[in-house]
Amino acid sequence: MPKPNKRQLIAAAMRARLNAIAPYSSFRVGAALLTRSGRIIGGANVESASYGLTCCAERVALFKALTEGEREFTAIAVVARAPKGVMPCGACRQLLAEYAPGAIVFTADAAHPQRVRQFKVSALLPGAFLHVPKQSARRRARGK
Ligand code: THU
Repeated sequence: MPKPNKRQLIAAAMRARLNAIAPYSSFRVGAALLTRSGRIIGGANVESASYGLTCCAERVALFKALTEGEREFTAIAVVARAPKGVMPCGACRQLLAEYAPGAIVFTADAAHPQRVRQFKVSALLPGAFLHVPKQSARRRARGK
């Protein structure tokens, strides 16, 4: 298992940020997820004319990775032009708590990508909702 290389992951998030689609906010965000096997998957925010449909960079990266079969993540980097960088929003924290509970979040201002702050996903959403109803767990076990 590779140790999360934060510089490399931040650089990947910077590259992903170039593809942000943010015509409404002009706030471009890039993210990069590191899998346990060492693969890096990037994502960027995608905005919609129907504002609420906007998807954050973190979720785009996570959904890309999950739908490519990845299941184990050690870190995620997030970059945007903001003092000290941005922290994942509540919706992204929930999904990170579900699918990347052991990961570290690296965050940096895109103007100063060498200044990186880090947090544990587990610390960003204490008491996350992770309950799976027993009934559906049983159904899932039966493959239904
Ligand atoms: N955004 C992200 O992509 N990630 C964050 O952590 C915070 C917010 C996006 C959503 C929207 O496109 C823009 O930033 C402004 O909120």
